[in-house]
Amino acid sequence: MQITLELKPNAALDTEALVTYVFEDNNGPQGRIAELDQLTGGLLSRLHKSGELTGKSLETTLIHAPAGLKAARLLLIGAGKREQLNTASLRKVAGVALRYLKSRSVHNFVFAVRESAANEETAQAITEGFVTADFETDKYKSEKKNHKSIDSAAIAGYSDSEKAAGEKGIARGRIIADAQNFARDLVNEPSNKLTPKILAEKAEAMAKEAGLAVEVLDEKKIADLKMGALLSVAQGSVEPPRMIVITYTPAQAPKAGAPVVGLVGKAVTFDTGGISIKPADGMEKMKYDMAGGATMIGIMRALAALKPNVKVICVVPATENMPGGKAQKPGDIQTAMSGKTIEVLNTDAEGRLILADGVHYAKQLGATHLIDAATLTGAIVVALANVNVGVFGSDQAWTDKLLASAKQAGEKMWQLPMDDEYREFIKGSFADIQNIGSGKGGGSITGAWFIREFAGDTPWIHLDIAGTAWNDDAKPWLAKGPTGVALRTIVQLVMSL
Ligand code: BES
Ligand code: ZN
Ligand code: ZN
Repeated sequence: MQITLELKPNAALDTEALVTYVFEDNNGPQGRIAELDQLTGGLLSRLHKSGELTGKSLETTLIHAPAGLKAARLLLIGAGKREQLNTASLRKVAGVALRYLKSRSVHNFVFAVRESAANEETAQAITEGFVTADFETDKYKSEKKNHKSIDSAAIAGYSDSEKAAGEKGIARGRIIADAQNFARDLVNEPSNKLTPKILAEKAEAMAKEAGLAVEVLDEKKIADLKMGALLSVAQGSVEPPRMIVITYTPAQAPKAGAPVVGLVGKAVTFDTGGISIKPADGMEKMKYDMAGGATMIGIMRALAALKPNVKVICVVPATENMPGGKAQKPGDIQTAMSGKTIEVLNTDAEGRLILADGVHYAKQLGATHLIDAATLTGAIVVALANVNVGVFGSDQAWTDKLLASAKQAGEKMWQLPMDDEYREFIKGSFADIQNIGSGKGGGSITGAWFIREFAGDTPWIHLDIAGTAWNDDAKPWLAKGPTGVALRTIVQLVMSL
């Protein structure tokens, strides 16, 4: 799909569909909409008066052959309250426009931004909305969505002097959204098509193409480095584990003492639970238990193109969690790379085990500021449903930066507490720590505390994306399935350093 800027006035836009958005207020058509209203002989005023055009969030009104316009269709999308409009709502509106028109076999359209919104951030958000909305999960379907496709989308409403900003926004939005779709594509792969080895190969190919340094540790190297926690999860599977390391080094050396960001992503390509096996119902979804790793790999792809002046090290431990004859069993005691001993009371709490070695290794490679992302706990779904990412941090200044970036990137995230009391829950009876909490409740927090044990004094953030990395139902702006959540936020954070 091609995305361009279109500088023509509304009436002259020669397109299959002209799209814009309307607000929910009682004042009737204003600004750019008033102009369209006049061109169409008062049609929009009449629709507004009759109650058909309310501006309610994501309401769609399609008008065919609108008189006075060159466009074949006029699509109006509700944007909610005028004063609440922001880049997050525009991103959604743009996504709704694309999916609505694509499903009706339209191939090109122009999206007109309203007055005073013609800036770089808007163009970026709309582009991100288009590109992420265009993603489909029909890779393995013989019949692709009836060959419906959007060939070109344009953004209008920019003047000559705003053009440069608009084009910059489009370029940036494209890079970020392409990376998000790249991550979603990995998450969508079933476990028979995406083993740890194949994930590593795909990451390696991406890194080489993007000009990033990459190293993949195989099972032998992992054993040499004594990554006992990762190995303990992998030992139940015939598929060998991998530790994927991708490094972005800026062309200009950052100042001495500048932060080195370590991104660690959980990549369990399939989580059966191991010997503490999961119920059959819904187990097929556990192919997405590598979403944290995919997100981090996708972030590296975006950073290679955006070129921030920050060094970033991405570490992705990848394995299956299987109940094979060699699988670890409840009660087994493992020694992590850091030397800490772990009592594995539940083999289904495997994400924290592999992250223990991932986080330790990222520190050893020089990371001074850590972020991990993981589909870690079912408990986060209980706490925050599929709405917010769970955020946990050991350093409030670092965590605040992430939360601010999430706001800017339009991703909902909510911080949960990390009081010392919760740490008691994972004190081990027979080893240094145990991999599940002994207390009742707080399952996401004890999971976070377990990982924090390995981050030590290094500022660290943990993102529990178990509830948000997968859409169980299609949204009007996004297909059912992988969401690529947290990618935009972390890219935004790195770019802001
Ligand atoms: N991958 C799961 C977490 C998960 C659950 C992700 C639901 C997506 C949807 C994780 O490895 C797991 O099984 N966690 C256990 C931990 C428990 C044994 C302490 C859980 O949440 O039940
Ligand atoms: Zn599990
Ligand atoms: Zn898991």
